[in-house]
This record gives sequence, structure tokens and C-alpha cells, in this order.
Amino acid sequence: MTHSSPALTQLLSHFTHAWHNNTFVKISLGNYQGELPNLKNLYGKRLNLKAGTRLSFTYRYKTRDEVKNYTFEEAVALINSLLVDGFQIATIQTTTNDFIFDYLPKGKTRLRTTPPTTKDPPTGAHDRTKQRSIAANGKSYLHHLGVTDANGNVLKDAQDKFKQINHFIELLRVELNALPPLDITRVVDMGSGKGYLTFALYDYLTNELSKSANVKGIEFRQELVDLCNNIAKQSDFKGLHFEAGKIEDSDCNDVNVVIALHACDTATDDALAKGIKAEAALIVAAPCCHKQIRRAIEKSKPPTAIDFITRHGIYLEREAEMITDSLRVLILEYFGYKCKAVEFIADAHTHKNVMLIAQKTKAERKPEVLEKINAAKAFFGIEQHYLEKLMRMQNCQL
Ligand SMILES: C[S@@+](CC[C@H](N)C(=O)[O-])C[C@H]1O[C@@H](n2cnc3c(N)ncnc32)[C@H](O)[C@@H]1O
Repeated sequence: MTHSSPALTQLLSHFTHAWHNNTFVKISLGNYQGELPNLKNLYGKRLNLKAGTRLSFTYRYKTRDEVKNYTFEEAVALINSLLVDGFQIATIQTTTNDFIFDYLPKGKTRLRTTPPTTKDPPTGAHDRTKQRSIAANGKSYLHHLGVTDANGNVLKDAQDKFKQINHFIELLRVELNALPPLDITRVVDMGSGKGYLTFALYDYLTNELSKSANVKGIEFRQELVDLCNNIAKQSDFKGLHFEAGKIEDSDCNDVNVVIALHACDTATDDALAKGIKAEAALIVAAPCCHKQIRRAIEKSKPPTAIDFITRHGIYLEREAEMITDSLRVLILEYFGYKCKAVEFIADAHTHKNVMLIAQKTKAERKPEVLEKINAAKAFFGIEQHYLEKLMRMQNCQL
């Protein structure tokens, strides 16, 4: 057993100072030469628990990790004993300096001080407490919409909705951040319903991204429009408004972001057509039912190499969904959009879990995409996709 050294005493003194001044970031111990079999490293970080602040140590063994939490006093004693008898090197990161303690030949020790690896103070939040784009507390609209209680706690039966709201923002975060400021001044949410996602989007754009966005929800159910307008007023969301009306009749010529989440059947196409016509910088749709294409395939019943699959109703439904949305993507691509289809919400909540995200590019119209659209329609016996019809009606020739 070796003994504590001045360098080690100094290290523990820096640790104590950093811990009490909230500048401690993390500690790591390495080069273990003690008696615990297979122990390799030890990593420690601050952890705020209900019981108080702890130092959470991860013991990294050859084939497994073990986590143990200690009070500050326990942690100091532990670090001391582990460095006296086992680990040969320790690094403590603080926001002001890093401190590196190690053993030299003949049992000598030293302490080096270097500039800090990070100047960001750690949050100390428990790993399991996920940082959300939209926080639950301090958001009166979430309370008025029935997602949280008055204290900002997410209600038990609104957990899925809260997750969906956040997932929606997280999926769009990159695209929204990438938009030039001028491109998010006019946002339209088509078929906004009770407005959960419309409110969250407005909140994120104005309060997180500090953009002066003007967001409009279009919804044909007057009672929902009135409810949402009241909540927007109570929340002092001056740039958020809801209008009663049909998507297909809405005037959207100058919009730059179009959202349509679970708007029924071809209402999604109405929204896409409005966005394409307006040359919106970003179009986001989570399609709902896909009846138009399903009916078209059922009617023509084309003999294809895959009709052994689609003779089952459930597979026909899934196929209709994929064909409807893939043709939507092709039509968007034809009009110069770069598209991706991603999972919106997990299957457990609803099977309507696809989101199409389309970003306008400067690309010219592409004849080869048109060929693909026509070949797909011919293969599946589809006369025309509803979105094509809408584009033709708007004199946007395909
Ligand atoms: C399933 S809800 C989705 C609401 C909201 N977008 C969301 O994801 O939480 C669809 C909403 O779209 C509205 N809607 C459907 N077709 C519409 C149309 N053609 N014009 C306006 N609103 C429409 C419905 O009244 C309904 O409130």
C-alpha cells in the first residue's frame, strides 16, 4: 500500500473546489494496476437525484460496466484510495482547467494543469431525463390543449401526444434551421385540427429559433378554429392564427412552408399541390388514408408479378399506401423538390406513421422522373394520381 502524496492532495483540493463551485465536468481514472479483476477504467460525473447531488461512477470492466453513485464525501475518499492503490492516472475536467495526476517511476507523483477541454458546465441531469425541443413547463398552450397540468407536468394520458409534438419538431429541426430567414415568414398548417403541432411549430420558430414567423392553421371545423384562436390569444402568440375553411379553397400563393399532418386522404394532395404551386421552400406531409389509389388498383386489378401479395386486403392497403406516397414523392421531385420519407411516430401509436419532407431546390423539371411516374402508373393500373390532376388543374403541366 502506497501513501497519499502532495500531488494527490492538490488534485483532491481542485476537485473539492470545482465540485462546490459547479465547475466540475468529469473525472476519469485509468491504467489500473490494483487487485480487482478485469477493471480497466473509472469515469465519474455529477448527477442530480431527488436524494441530492451525487458523483456517479461507471466502473468499466473488460466485458461489462457497473454504475455506482456516491455522496461528495464518499467520492473524495474513494478517489483518494483508488489513486493510492490501483489507478495510475487521473484526469479531472473542470470548466476552468483540466488537472492531470499521474505516477512517475519510483512511485513519484505529479500534477499538471492544462487549459480546459470544455468550458460548458455539465447539466447534471439524469441520463434518462431526455432534453426535449419543446419543454413541458412554462408553456400555457400545452396546458390549455390538455397536454400538461397547470404546473407543467405532462398528463398521464397525454404522454404520447407530448412525445409526438417533440418528435415532430426534432424531425424538422435541421430543415427549419437551414431555411433562410425570409423563407419562414409564412407558414401554413393545412388541416390543423386541435393545433397541437401548429402551436409547437410556432413556439419553436419564435422562441427557440427567434424567427418572426407568421403561422396560419387552416381547418374546416369552426369549433377547433375558435378554440385554437382563443389559446393563441391567451398565449400571446401574436403571429399565430387559425382560419375556418377548406384546404382546397385556401389562398396560399405566397406561403413558404406548408405542413399537412394526417389531413384525410386526398386533402394531403390538396396541401401538396398548394405548396408546389407556391414554390414553398419546405413541404411536410404525414399522409393519412390512401383511398384514391387503392380504389384505382382494385378497379383495374392489373395482373402483375406481385398480385399474389395484393390479393390479401391488408397487403393491398399497405401497397396502396406505399404507391400513393411514392408517387407523391416522384411528383414533388419532378417539380424540383428533394424529398425524404421518414418514420413520424412509432407503429404502436398509429400505422399512419410516415412523414414526407420536401425541400425546394433549384433543379429543373426532370423528364426521366416523369417516365418513372408513367411506368409506375401503367404497372399498377392507375389512370392518374390525384396530385397529378390537381397540378394539371393549376396549369402546372406534368
Ligand atoms: C386527423 S386530423 C389531424 C389534425 C392535426 N394536423 C394533427 O396532426 O394533429 C385532420 C384534420 O384535418 C381537417 N381536414 C381534413 N380535410 C380538410 C380539408 N379539406 N380542409 C380543411 N380541413 C380539413 C379535419 O377536420 C381534421 O381536423
